[in-house]
Amino acid sequence: MAQQYRITLLPGDGIGPEIMAVAVDVLKVVEKKFDLQFEFQEALIGGAAIDATGEPLPAATLDVCRNSDAVLLAAIGGYKWDSLPSHLRPEAGLLGLRAGLELFANLRPAKIIPQLIDASTLKREIVEGVDIMVVRELTGGIYFGKPKGIFDTETGEKRGVNTMAYTESEIDRIGRVAFEIARKRQSKLCSVDKANVLEVSQLWRDRMTKLAAQYPDVELTHLYVDNAAMQLVRAPKQFDTIVTGNLFGDILSDAAAMLTGSIGMLPSASLGASGLGVFEPVHGSAPDIAGLDKANPLAQVLSTAMMLRYGLNQAAAADYLENGVLQVLANGARTGDIMSSGMQLLGCRAMGEALIQVLEE
Ligand code: IPM
Ligand code: MG
Repeated sequence: MAQQYRITLLPGDGIGPEIMAVAVDVLKVVEKKFDLQFEFQEALIGGAAIDATGEPLPAATLDVCRNSDAVLLAAIGGYKWDSLPSHLRPEAGLLGLRAGLELFANLRPAKIIPQLIDASTLKREIVEGVDIMVVRELTGGIYFGKPKGIFDTETGEKRGVNTMAYTESEIDRIGRVAFEIARKRQSKLCSVDKANVLEVSQLWRDRMTKLAAQYPDVELTHLYVDNAAMQLVRAPKQFDTIVTGNLFGDILSDAAAMLTGSIGMLPSASLGASGLGVFEPVHGSAPDIAGLDKANPLAQVLSTAMMLRYGLNQAAAADYLENGVLQVLANGARTGDIMSSGMQLLGCRAMGEALIQVLEE
């Protein structure tokens, strides 16, 4: 009997539905090759959910997600919803999903793909061989701390407030995930904070240092976030695994992504204690090219590979997809974001077809 999995698909907004369609086609090939069976259920999130129900994360979506083995998300957001109050914006749906499923650990690998090295804006010798894993805390910090809001002051002026806060247990649990991951990589962990200014970061640094005693095989270093940003573009090869809080991780993971040339190639995994994970590309919904068949579907496919690896424990199927992506690039197939001279420019659908052809060979 084929192993069965129930997968929730959240295509979301912008290019989301186009790249999700490619991922589903690819999963149908995986089913055949690996004797697996996927039951897909689709749910609404982000702008699509706002348009249909008035809310960015309907309760039904969380229920469907909870009732599945893994969640594959594409992207949310767009100009159309940008002027809504923050709790009704598409982004609130994504944050609600992370909080609702307690996905506190966000893994964002940024690995140079040799075929695309010339797509990087940095010099070849700087980025060649870069292989970084950013472990970002995802359900705490300034994204969720209270108080938050825009309040009236006594002088009649408005004051916007957010709170960056971490408890010891929140720091320890993301720290453990990061040490474990570092251990499986080059055993080098760099914790990024702003401990020269922020108390929350002083606590962060203390706890990371304490945890390090339990992982004597992992070399722990600390950097302030401003220095980390500089080092990432100056000498990125010094990094192996990075662990940091929610906001710093948001920023540094985009910077790390760009080392590889295109954010259109990078997947991510969001994991919690329950084993249920959400897998999504690092890039956004790209409303400027939505519906034009120009999107790069490969980050979505690589997110699908992360789902197979970390969500479903199907490492062989994950390897198969990742190798397929390398092969299609080696064959010269390119979407616009990674195009270079002499290569073949394909749309989103055609890139999906080229990949499937490679996978079926
Ligand atoms: C990301 C995105 C989100 C975040 C937005 C869309 C809420 O930038 O996943 O990095 O800030 O976490
Ligand atoms: Mg971001």
